[in-house]
Amino acid sequence: MLDINKAIESLNWDKEPKGLYEPIGYALASGGKRLRPTLAITAAEVIINGGLINGTVIDDVLPAALALEVFHNFTLLHDDVMDKARVRRGRPTVHVQWNENTAILSGDQMLIEAYKLLAQVPSNKVQRTLEMFNEMATGVCEGQQYDVDFEQANNVSIDDYMMMIEKKTSVLLAYAMQIAGYIAGATPAQQEALYRYGLHIGLAFQIQDDILDVYGDPKTFGKAIGGDICANKKTLLLLTAMESADGETKAELLQWLMAVGQDEQKIAAVTAIYNRLGVREKCEAVMEEHTAMALEQLDRLPRNEAAERLRELAERLATRKS
Ligand code: IPE
Ligand code: IPE
Ligand code: MG
Ligand code: MG
Ligand code: MG
Repeated sequence: MLDINKAIESLNWDKEPKGLYEPIGYALASGGKRLRPTLAITAAEVIINGGLINGTVIDDVLPAALALEVFHNFTLLHDDVMDKARVRRGRPTVHVQWNENTAILSGDQMLIEAYKLLAQVPSNKVQRTLEMFNEMATGVCEGQQYDVDFEQANNVSIDDYMMMIEKKTSVLLAYAMQIAGYIAGATPAQQEALYRYGLHIGLAFQIQDDILDVYGDPKTFGKAIGGDICANKKTLLLLTAMESADGETKAELLQWLMAVGQDEQKIAAVTAIYNRLGVREKCEAVMEEHTAMALEQLDRLPRNEAAERLRELAERLATRKS
C-alpha cells in the first residue's frame, strides 16, 4: 500500500512567516495513526478491481486523502485549545509549545491547505468532492459545539451523546471512505456502504477514545488521562454511570461534577465510581455493536484483499491502546 507518512512528509512547510508554518509542520510530523487517509486509500483500493493497485486512480485519491489528514490535524489544534489539553501524541500541544493565537491562526491556515489539496482532485470530480467535504466539515463544527455545550448541561441523554460523536468524529471517517470511493468510481450503493462502515467504526472509535481518556496509558495514548472527567465531558462512561447509579452514587457523581480545582481527587473518585458500576464493560459492549454494524457493510462491497484490511482495521480499532 501507498506510504501515507511519506506523502505527508513531502508537504512543504518551510515557508515564511515561520510563526505560521512551523506549527503546521510540527503538528503533521508528530505522527498519529493516520487513520483517515488510510481509510480513504483502502476504500479506493476496495473499489478498484479486486484491490489491485491501479496507480492512476490512487494518484487521483491521494490529494483528498491528504486533505482529510490536514483537516483532522487542524481540528486537533483548535480542539486542544477548547479542551485545554496540554499533551498530544506525547508532545506539548501547539498552544502550549507556542500560544493560543498560534493554534488559532496556524489551524485556520491548515483548513485552507486542506482545500488547496482538494482542488487537486480530478476536475470532473471536484464539485461533488467539495460538497461532501463541506457537509463533513460543518458536521464536525456542529459536533464540537454540542460537545462544549454538553459540558455545562446535566440533562444530556445517551441519544444526544451518540448524535454529538457522530458529528464531531464519525462523519469525518464516513466521508473519508465515501469521498475516496466516489473518486475511485464506486457506485452509489457502494458509496453508501463505505459511508456506513466509516460511520460505525467512527462511533466505536470515539467511545474507545473516551474509555482511553480514563483507562489509557499516557505513554501509548499520548494524551493526558482524566481530561474528560475534569472538563465534565458528557462521555458515554459518565452517562452510563448516571443511568446505572443508585440514588446515593448519583448524588456523589453530581457532587463531583460541581467540584472545581481538585482535579486529582475528582479523577480518582469518578474513576472509582465507574469501576464500581462496571461502566467500562458496558461501553465496550456498545462499541462492539458498532464494530459489528461496520463489518456488515463489507457484504455490500467487493471482496478482496483491501476489504480484508477493512475487516482487520475495524477489529483492531476496538482493542487499540493509542
Ligand atoms: C483524535 O483522533 C480525535 C478523535 C476523534 C478522538 P485520533 O485518535 O485519530 O488522533 P491521531 O491522529 O491518531 O493522533
Ligand atoms: C475529538 O474529540 C473530536 C475532534 C477533535 C473534532 P476529543 O476532544 O475527545 O479528541 P481528543 O481526545 O482531544 O483527541
Ligand atoms: Mg474535544
Ligand atoms: Mg480534545
Ligand atoms: Mg478524547
